[in-house]
Amino acid sequence: MKELTIEAKIKVCAYDEFSAEDKQLVDAARAATANSYAVYSKFNVGAAVRLDNDVIVKGSNQENAAYPSGLCAERTTLFWANSQYPENAVLAMAIAARTDKGELPMPIPPCGACRQVILETEKRFGKAIKIILFGTKESYIIEDGIKALMPLSFDSAFLE
Ligand code: THU
Repeated sequence: MKELTIEAKIKVCAYDEFSAEDKQLVDAARAATANSYAVYSKFNVGAAVRLDNDVIVKGSNQENAAYPSGLCAERTTLFWANSQYPENAVLAMAIAARTDKGELPMPIPPCGACRQVILETEKRFGKAIKIILFGTKESYIIEDGIKALMPLSFDSAFLE
């Protein structure tokens, strides 16, 4: 029997170690938490993406009394960005969250459904998306795209 080992390369850093460009995107995601509609979970998530035309699009989670009708910050952001700028590749995405107690010390990772949508966006534009997960104590930078967070992922290649 063979064994498959799948590795994920994730950089761990402090806020001060971000490049100016990454800081700008992270700050946009942090600011986006203010527009979150999270009256049920009280878990405010913000996301920001940088497009290849240098536009930054922000989004946040939008909840609903019928819980499954709500949407995560990552998908709100990507769907809006791709609706407004269908020709522009997404280069990077930052994610941040806060609760009533303030910003979270550790990064929050995207849920499975959001990972699948990030994967589709990468496929659509043929470009890996740099993913930055912000925490006040430490942050994670995933340079190589969503594959690092999604081993054995299903994409359009299997439909061919
Ligand atoms: N949420 C996000 O927006 N992104 C994530 O990556 C994880 C969870 C939202 C969904 C829901 O509104 C709240 O956080 C609690 O799950």
